[in-house]
Amino acid sequence: MTIKFNKYTAKQGFISTYLPTFIISKPFFLNLPSIMAQITKYSIDHQFEENYLKIRAKEKRILTLDEIRQLPNIRKDHPHYQEWQLRQATFDRLQAYFKEKQPLNILDLACGNGWLINRLWTPKAYFTGVEINEYELDQAAQLLQDKDNVDLILGDIFEIILDTQMDCIIVNAAIQYFKPLDKILNHLLKQLNPNGEIHLIDSPFYPNATESKAAQARTEAYFQEFGTPSMTHFYHHHHYDLLKAFNHQLLYTPNTLKNKINRKLGRPVSPFPWIIIRA
Ligand SMILES: C[S@@+](CC[C@H](N)C(=O)[O-])C[C@H]1O[C@@H](n2cnc3c(N)ncnc32)[C@H](O)[C@@H]1O
Repeated sequence: MTIKFNKYTAKQGFISTYLPTFIISKPFFLNLPSIMAQITKYSIDHQFEENYLKIRAKEKRILTLDEIRQLPNIRKDHPHYQEWQLRQATFDRLQAYFKEKQPLNILDLACGNGWLINRLWTPKAYFTGVEINEYELDQAAQLLQDKDNVDLILGDIFEIILDTQMDCIIVNAAIQYFKPLDKILNHLLKQLNPNGEIHLIDSPFYPNATESKAAQARTEAYFQEFGTPSMTHFYHHHHYDLLKAFNHQLLYTPNTLKNKINRKLGRPVSPFPWIIIRA
């Protein structure tokens, strides 16, 4: 059964009650923020969060609030500078697209630390961020604390109740955490307005089932090496054939001739497609 808690803030003292044990021992990067926006919380299984944050910390992907505020810009000597340059290009494309047709209700599914909402934010739209990892959602809450057109929800998208139909659902660097692909896309399509759009950005898509299987094997080895083999159950490898059942369009294709040439010339070229799915 899903338990829905009333909205509350860290200041009211609930968060420590629901923290997984490894967070209670609080490594340096897990200090709770003192001022933050409200989060609607559903009960979640903290096993994913525990392993996921272990990897994020080892990979140096847990950022400070000051760093998150600047994203997708990041300092040149940051270990993920190059990756963020690619993400910057994706962000620029998305932002230009939204300038043409500003959606009113926007869901950022798996919003992480909230950087994308922060950068897309406008007083003319309503933003909802859904996330299953409480630590980074708390960072989002702190980041977005002064914006009252933002709702943050801790929970599993299949269990939470959204009170608005969305014009746009963005799944940014996160569709690989959802499986099967048709289940999540059909679920999201039910949350969309008739002219709404789902945007899948900054996630790998493989050419076919064979290549996706090979990538799965590499991922398994990677998680094994990190000492978090159970993460294999949460990380998936989707391929383009799976999109055939959906009304989809590729707005950015990583392997055009132009992109291949630019890559050869050492220019930053995103390896991830931009896929739009409509009803
Ligand atoms: C690579 S991060 C991307 C975060 C953010 N969208 C970004 O662009 O930086 C993937 C995110 O997916 C979240 N996630 C994984 N499974 C999820 C689920 N079932 N529901 C909500 N969020 C999930 C993780 O906690 C993580 O924050």
